[in-house]
Amino acid sequence: MPRKLAAGNWKMNGLRANLKELETLAQRHSDASVDILICLPTTLITTCQDTLFDIGGQDCHTAESGAYTGDISAPMLSDAGATYVITGHSERRADHGETDQIVAAKSAAANAAGLTAIICVGETLDQREAGTTLDIIEGQLAGSIPDGATADNTVIAYEPVWAIGTGKVPTLEQIAEVHAHIRAKLQARFSDGADMSILYGGSVKGSNAADIFAVPHVDGALVGGASLKADDFSPIISALE
Ligand code: G3P
Repeated sequence: MPRKLAAGNWKMNGLRANLKELETLAQRHSDASVDILICLPTTLITTCQDTLFDIGGQDCHTAESGAYTGDISAPMLSDAGATYVITGHSERRADHGETDQIVAAKSAAANAAGLTAIICVGETLDQREAGTTLDIIEGQLAGSIPDGATADNTVIAYEPVWAIGTGKVPTLEQIAEVHAHIRAKLQARFSDGADMSILYGGSVKGSNAADIFAVPHVDGALVGGASLKADDFSPIISALE
């Protein structure tokens, strides 16, 4: 069975003072029946290593170390207390020119360091309107998931680019279609593909989470804006339980 995962992505938000939100969350969900993950800015990861939740990074380099000013490696994230890292988020694909090949290399580097990679895929609005969504997703999956991926070290996040931070959410039928397609491709390529968790991401809120989690092959969510405040993230966690 895929694990149920409520994952927050703080993106480039959060100072030490904001960590009080995690304390509140920990008080409310100390006996949670689902996995809870917070992907923090790198500066906050070490501070949080004693939290009740899993902690993740938001990107890693393909190399273990070296002359890469400003970058962070997977072993560094692991050393700081992270157990997960997001790879191939659409913001990194768009803003940093990350290709499927780079995403696969980063995911392999994450796995080699003992981290679970949350590999993101998703279509743009143009691609959705052109009717090419499933082809785009299929190509991203084929190119971005390294051969060594397993249900233990890899999670897939379907994040339609047009739904991120916009308040627009695909219909439940659209989510169901893409998640079923992802599941079929994972099962065709990996012996434990049926057990890999597939998250939905893009404008998830307390008010829509339960409906989204009821869609087949939705095993949790990757949440941006609504993960920043305990009051917003808490109902999403509860909806997954
Ligand atoms: O990685 C999560 C993210 O891209 C979704 O962001 O703010 O739409 O929940 P948001």
